[in-house]
Amino acid sequence: MYNDASLFLELKFYKEWQVAISPERIRWNSRYSDNSFLPNWGPDISLAQRMGELPKGRCLDFACGPGANSLFLAKRGYVVDALDFSDVAIEMLRRASYGEGVSDKVNLLLGDLKEHPLEVENYDLVVSFWFPLGGLMPRIVEALKPEGVLLHKVHTLHQQRYDPKCDRTLCVAPNELQTMAEGLETLHYEEVDERDNAHALLIARKPPQ
Ligand SMILES: C[S@@+](CC[C@H](N)C(=O)[O-])C[C@H]1O[C@@H](n2cnc3c(N)ncnc32)[C@H](O)[C@@H]1O
Repeated sequence: MYNDASLFLELKFYKEWQVAISPERIRWNSRYSDNSFLPNWGPDISLAQRMGELPKGRCLDFACGPGANSLFLAKRGYVVDALDFSDVAIEMLRRASYGEGVSDKVNLLLGDLKEHPLEVENYDLVVSFWFPLGGLMPRIVEALKPEGVLLHKVHTLHQQRYDPKCDRTLCVAPNELQTMAEGLETLHYEEVDERDNAHALLIARKPPQ
């Protein structure tokens, strides 16, 4: 069931899609509530550096968290659908989007990545940071417009060298990201392991129709 923010301004400021209370969701909400996972309010450096190569228009920030990248994109003219199942993170993004004067450009979507409906061929750009898409990749491919671009960045398992407590479920094996992008044309792929940060970055485009 959708709750329209304009009707329930005080109670519901986001569109919610049947998001169940799962242990995983509670865990993320606690991380954001107790500040054990502090949001970075700056955009991801790969996004900032590669803005010129990315198509403009409608964007999906998949697993947006508190939404630093959503805000950055909204301030640069994108209309951003920001999707996450943490209501704590979505509330942080709501406040920040008002503070930054871009609340009309950021659509807050509270929902599960696996279930939240995504319109087919709706997005010029999909960004997803630090949450491996894995089996969700076909949903993303479907949601991209022809010639739409995915920018996906996640830690590789090498991150455990720098942070032994890092969550393995948020990491990919070396080369895994590249093989995930079935149905997309790879524009750029890199694996970086430097300065305490091991990650893979994929930029890939959906073929024209
Ligand atoms: C590592 S954080 C990354 C947040 C953000 N992309 C960033 O760069 O700051 C992963 C995010 O995925 C969200 N998440 C994890 N599983 C999810 C699910 N099944 N549905 C929706 N969001 C989910 C968490 O709430 C969290 O905000």
